[in-house]
Amino acid sequence: MGETRIVTKRLRDHPDDSWTLERYLATGGYQSLSKALQMAPAEIREEQVKASGLRGRGGAGFPAATKWSFLGDDVDQPRYLACNADEGEPSTFKDHMLIEGDPHQLVEGIVIAARSIQTRNAFIYIRGEFALGADRLDQAVREAYEQGWLGTNIKGSGMDLDVVVHRGAGAYIAGDETGLLSSLEGERAMPRVKPPFPAAEGLYACPTVVNNVETLSTLPAIIDKGGEWYGSLGVGKSTGTRVFSVSGHVERPGNYEVELGMTFRELIYDLAGGISGGRDLKFFIPGGASSPWLMPSHLDVPLDMDVVQNDYKSMLGSGAIMVYDETVDPLLVAWRLVKFFAHESCGKCTPCREGSGWLEKILYRMSHGQGRAEDMDLLLDVSDNIVPGLNAPFAQTTICALGPSIVSPIVSLERFFRDEIVERFGRPEVRAGEEPPAVPSGPTVPVSFPAGAGS
Ligand SMILES: Cc1cc2nc3c(=O)[nH]c(=O)nc-3n(C[C@H](O)[C@H](O)[C@H](O)COP(=O)(O)O)c2cc1C
Repeated sequence: MGETRIVTKRLRDHPDDSWTLERYLATGGYQSLSKALQMAPAEIREEQVKASGLRGRGGAGFPAATKWSFLGDDVDQPRYLACNADEGEPSTFKDHMLIEGDPHQLVEGIVIAARSIQTRNAFIYIRGEFALGADRLDQAVREAYEQGWLGTNIKGSGMDLDVVVHRGAGAYIAGDETGLLSSLEGERAMPRVKPPFPAAEGLYACPTVVNNVETLSTLPAIIDKGGEWYGSLGVGKSTGTRVFSVSGHVERPGNYEVELGMTFRELIYDLAGGISGGRDLKFFIPGGASSPWLMPSHLDVPLDMDVVQNDYKSMLGSGAIMVYDETVDPLLVAWRLVKFFAHESCGKCTPCREGSGWLEKILYRMSHGQGRAEDMDLLLDVSDNIVPGLNAPFAQTTICALGPSIVSPIVSLERFFRDEIVERFGRPEVRAGEEPPAVPSGPTVPVSFPAGAGS
């Protein structure tokens, strides 16, 4: 089985100029929007997007048409669309490829979604570091206005839409949909308590849909070839294709767009070339840093959101697969991931704010030769305060899903590496006279100030 290129087709076929308006128009660009402008809003949602079975590609896999339907019919009240282009999940690098390589596809998808949810205002919230992507998006939006695909009375349809490209400042928490909305409003990117969900009270307290870049980029193909065609691809309720970012110890790391239902083995071995240097696989993380890990025995599990969640207690999440070979110390990986989450915790919820720091410190000593026999149980005890019953990533005492994300590496250690850890540190008993090494504090990147600066 190879790739099935839908959203990545243009950028793979025309790597030299896929982002230009000329190439976009020459390869069928904006024809889907022409079609959509002839359709009623509910027709786009029900007969195309619902029939396609399209589920969100940002992490949670929520059905797009259902999310849109929550906005209701009161179109006199302002309502908004926000495209989530923050892509902060470690090891996920598909959205910025779609933006850099095919920005008009995203713009076209946004106008189609906006027509269906009947909004006049859409925002693209893009991670500030994606400078090239943001520049290309700015250009695509400008060209779309010039061509009459944005603005007032789009192509004589009576539809108005303004799109604003908003650059964020690089906080992981701004990718959470309510954190994103807070940031768009000019506040700190802190998640909001739900309910109310954004569909009821989102941006400026008005009904809002937040969708991921890949979700929206898929819409032109769905309108072009039909929802039923898209729905016939994939497996079960995981229809269509997804772009998977494969990284780590593989021969050919990169983004691969594949039909859902393919197995992890086919993706990691056949497409990404298998484990580098011919070494053995130790474990892999199937859906971004937030997802619980899987083992070599899971290689034949299909890329099916429901199977991975229900049968293997993990998730396809952001579509990022991190592969680790036999030489890797799982404790070191767990420490590094938890260090990231601790750094990115916004501090609003106590279990996440305090727990992440404690977990990071415990994992630091364990992965740096100073672990104690009781440490594994201590990790679980602290984690249980963030995710009761350790049912990560599906339960939480925190407002947003960053809390359970911290716990995912720890439940993974418990599930698959407990024996290895007990063998390393012994059974719970304190080893007298040993002090753990000092835990480094402060920012990850050293900051130096010129002499005399500050006070
Ligand atoms: C801490 C955190 C970070 C997130 N980061 C992103 C992100 O960078 N991009 C994204 O699309 N979704 C991200 N999400 C998921 C969003 O909250 C939201 O579910 C998604 O944008 C909805 O789009 P979709 O329905 O098209 O998937 C994040 C969630 C959390 C809790």
